[in-house]
Amino acid sequence: MPRIKVFDTTLRDGEQSPGVNLNKMEKLEIAKQLERLGVDVMEAGFPAASEGDFQAVKLIADTIKDVSVTALARTRKADIDRAYEALKNTAHPRIHVFLATSPIHMQYKLKMTPEQVASQSVDMVTYAKERFEEVEWSAEDATRSDWAFLAEVIEQVIDAGATVINLPDTVGFTMPDEYGRMFKYMKENVPNIDRADLSCHCHNDLGMAAANTMAAIENGATQIEGTINGIGERAGNVALEEVAVALKIRSDHYGYDTGLKLDEIKRSSDLVAKLTGMYVQANKAIIGRNAYAHESGIHQDGVLKNSETYEIITPELVGVSSNTLFMGKHSGRHAFKDKVGEFGIEMSEEALTAAFKSFKALTDHKKEVTDDDIYTLIMEVKTDQ
Ligand code: KIV
Ligand code: ZN
Repeated sequence: MPRIKVFDTTLRDGEQSPGVNLNKMEKLEIAKQLERLGVDVMEAGFPAASEGDFQAVKLIADTIKDVSVTALARTRKADIDRAYEALKNTAHPRIHVFLATSPIHMQYKLKMTPEQVASQSVDMVTYAKERFEEVEWSAEDATRSDWAFLAEVIEQVIDAGATVINLPDTVGFTMPDEYGRMFKYMKENVPNIDRADLSCHCHNDLGMAAANTMAAIENGATQIEGTINGIGERAGNVALEEVAVALKIRSDHYGYDTGLKLDEIKRSSDLVAKLTGMYVQANKAIIGRNAYAHESGIHQDGVLKNSETYEIITPELVGVSSNTLFMGKHSGRHAFKDKVGEFGIEMSEEALTAAFKSFKALTDHKKEVTDDDIYTLIMEVKTDQ
């Protein structure tokens, strides 16, 4: 099955989440876990941004052996030199340079003409190429850029040596069909496009990041960029675990896979949540606390008969030890009986009926009935008999 490369930016775009500030040892711990997870590239930081970020990128670059380590740089010689200093000892270095191409960014933020943006991109990719074999160029705010202009710049930066072209949806503005058409357009209108990997980078402002990423894959993207747990600026980046598991579960539909060790997902998610302090919502796809929990009686009964009735992903696939039957007011007799079996307690049908009745009465007062609660009420019924 053809493979989509995974570029993780938890340590750069993810760390740009408001309130998140990782020290270099915390970043290294996450980097080692990303290596175990099997990402192809990890973006360790933005060395020109601060001395602390430079030191963190250098430490990661010097330590990580099996994954390509990259760092962000503006299209400026000083930024590229700083990134080079941080990355020069790493096993598989890559530089990631970016410049905005949308009219609003060029006019108001950069105060540059489109021609200046094109020539600065070419000049700085050329400069970067003298130091790095692998050069990624990103068109910041690509999704609000003019496609014909973008196609011209892409052709020029590939000629200058770019090996990866990234088209970020910087402000999470695009829609799946539109983003897909943009990738198709570049494939059809940039003559040398096959000399580079084409990468997608989606933000989640309108909740479309995963759908947009899937659309890019269907239309020629060969690399996806995102973060663990979807952390990142504003509403965050695409959650890599969502895309990787969607590709796996729907391989019949997409026919692509990533090289990720999916059973390292939960460990990666827990570590990132703990170190960033950004806790994962309970109903988050793939790794939320409730993602493999069933409460209603009908669902619990189905899962007990055959878990595939209500589970399209086995918890073990992503490193979660098992599914859980949440014992609450919607739980049915079948799940209750199963719970009694877990305690290794033998009960007559009559005793079970009485215990189930007490359990239901308890659920009117308690949202979640714990194992201890159930054990106590079973024992009460047993001693009454
Ligand atoms: O969202 C974005 O445009 C970025 C670039 C710097 C690649 O993160
Ligand atoms: Zn971004």
